Amino acid sequence: MTKLYEGKSKICYATDNENELNIFFKNEITAFNKLKKATIESKGVLTAKISNIIFKYLEKNNINTHLLKVIDDQNVLVKKLKMFNIEIIIRNIAAGSITKRLGIKEATTFDKPIFELCYKNDDFGDPLINDDHCVVLGLTTLEELQKIKDITLKINNLLIDLFKKINIKVVDFKIELGLDSENNICLGDEISPDTCRFWDENNRKLDKDCFREDLDDVTSIYSIILNKLEGIKL
Ligand code: ADP
Ligand code: TMP
Ligand code: ASP
Repeated sequence: MTKLYEGKSKICYATDNENELNIFFKNEITAFNKLKKATIESKGVLTAKISNIIFKYLEKNNINTHLLKVIDDQNVLVKKLKMFNIEIIIRNIAAGSITKRLGIKEATTFDKPIFELCYKNDDFGDPLINDDHCVVLGLTTLEELQKIKDITLKINNLLIDLFKKINIKVVDFKIELGLDSENNICLGDEISPDTCRFWDENNRKLDKDCFREDLDDVTSIYSIILNKLEGIKL
């Protein structure tokens, strides 16, 4: 297969259909804009399987996603999207960069979800931007941004409902959206413990913070999430 792009945690390959991609989930894990790196046996399988369960659940609940077919444990066939060059973040509970940037105590629950936008550009460290940056700099149109907000808040509610079933709190997450061949906004990339913060009822961290903060073994922690998700009926 022709490699079109290799990122920090996935590789995109061309397929016979120009509107489709094969995405391979790698075992590499990085944090702090690649300052910290490791290769973790079975990480790609765990993030792929978790993301596939979540994408299928979202699709069932009327969210347009890129997922077409699970090829094997580490490969998926997806709709090739024209990605918006933004990372969309939702925060339900304070953790990570917002605690440092705004001095908010970790674990503070917000009255309503906080919607954030970042310019997706590793050279600048994915900086935070506002609605005007997004629209005036041409990353999305105003109409697209409004739809992006609606879709993201809908995804947040669905993720909260899903993870409530396994007693896990959705602290925050990052998603990436793009346009499909019919110009519909579609969820791309992945949703997994690599791209979300998940806490159990005792606020034990069950996500990439285990790696970022050297708290726990990534394979065991991600396996907890996968086993719990596999144990519920969707
Ligand atoms: P990064 O580029 O941030 O290092 P990854 O290693 O996850 O991230 O690489 C996957 C890349 O593929 C990301 O840049 C993401 O925007 C892009 N991508 C994800 N899903 C799709 C899709 N359906 N169509 C086109 N590009 C996609
Ligand atoms: P942050 O607190 O570091 O800004 O992260 C907010 C959320 O976004 C968290 O769930 C982790 C996720 N995230 C990514 O998926 N990729 C990234 O590059 C960053 C910085 C955060
Ligand atoms: N994904 C980013 C990196 O690889 C940042 C992070 O998740 O902490 O460096």
